This record gives sequence, C-alpha cells and structure tokens, in this order.
Amino acid sequence: MIKLGTDIIEVIRIKNSIEKYGEKFLKKVFSEREIEYCKKFKYSDERFAGKFAAKEATQKALMAKMPDTTFPLNQIEIQNDDFGRPVIYLTGELEKYNQKYRLEVSVSHIKEIATATTILVEK
Ligand SMILES: CC(C)(COP(=O)(O)OP(=O)(O)OC[C@H]1O[C@@H](n2cnc3c(N)ncnc32)[C@H](O)[C@@H]1OP(=O)(O)O)[C@@H](O)C(=O)NCCC(=O)NCCS
Repeated sequence: MIKLGTDIIEVIRIKNSIEKYGEKFLKKVFSEREIEYCKKFKYSDERFAGKFAAKEATQKALMAKMPDTTFPLNQIEIQNDDFGRPVIYLTGELEKYNQKYRLEVSVSHIKEIATATTILVEK
C-alpha cells in the first residue's frame, strides 16, 4: 500500500509569518533542530518554506491513509542527513507511526516557491 502527498507554497507567506510573529510562529511549527538548520543559510525563509511544504506533503500522505486523524505540523520533523537529504521523523503523539510506515520526502525551493512530495509505504 502506497500513499502520496504533495504541497507547494509561496516563500513570501512564510517570510511574512516569521516577520509578524517571530519565534512564536517558528516554535509553533518547527523543531529546534529545524530552526537551527534553516537559520544557518543566507536565504533562510526559502529553507523554512521547504520544510513547511515537506510537513504539509507528509500530512497529506498520512491523511490519505488515516483520514480521521490529525497530524500537527510540529510533530512532523524534517531533518537533513549528512548528505543534505531530507529525512522525516514523526515525534510526540505521531511517533508510533514511525514503526508502521516508511515515509520518503523530496524537497525543492527557489526564491519565490517551495515544493515537496512525500510517499508513505506501509512496512
Ligand atoms: C542536492 C541538489 C540536487 C539540490 O538541488 P538544487 O537545485 O540546488 O536545490 P533544490 O531546491 O532543488 O533542493 C534543495 C533540497 O534538496 C534536498 N537535498 C539536498 N541534498 C540532497 C540529496 N543529496 N539528495 C536528495 N535531496 C537532497 C534538501 O531537502 C534541500 O533543501 P533543504 O536543505 O532546505 O532541506 C544539489 O545541491 C546537488 O546536486 N548537490 C550535489 C551533492 C552535494 O553537493 N552534496 C553536498 C552535501 S555532502
């Protein structure tokens, strides 16, 4: 069984939220590790937008499998491995799904837009 989710977002929307709500917005949506990763880059808004798109794409893949369940964005963590590849870790209440499902995500971003696609495979 395979499920798919995809998302696209304007970088300016994330930029505006960060400017308007600052740390409150960042901490509501992103993990400490994600914040630390994105802030390392010159165009950090683009990185945040990429992670945001990856979270929403993952939400969609999970919802495709479990339509009645909610998947908070801050419990879908998008880390980067030693090669820079994005890796999904479900945390908190969602942690239990790590054993059950394999999740793969691909992320891309340019100055204006970020996009991501997630595949869910039942183990
Ligand atoms: C990885 C690569 C294809 C990204 O392409 P790009 O057009 O520059 O950038 P995109 O916006 O399309 O993609 C960027 C995203 O790709 C993902 N990514 C990075 N490295 C990746 C890899 N090796 N494989 C798959 N995805 C990768 C990341 O999620 C990244 O976004 P993030 O850092 O904000 O999470 C390109 O940088 C490349 O070919 N690099 C060669 C490998 C390399 O230099 N590795 C350095 C670390 S050892």
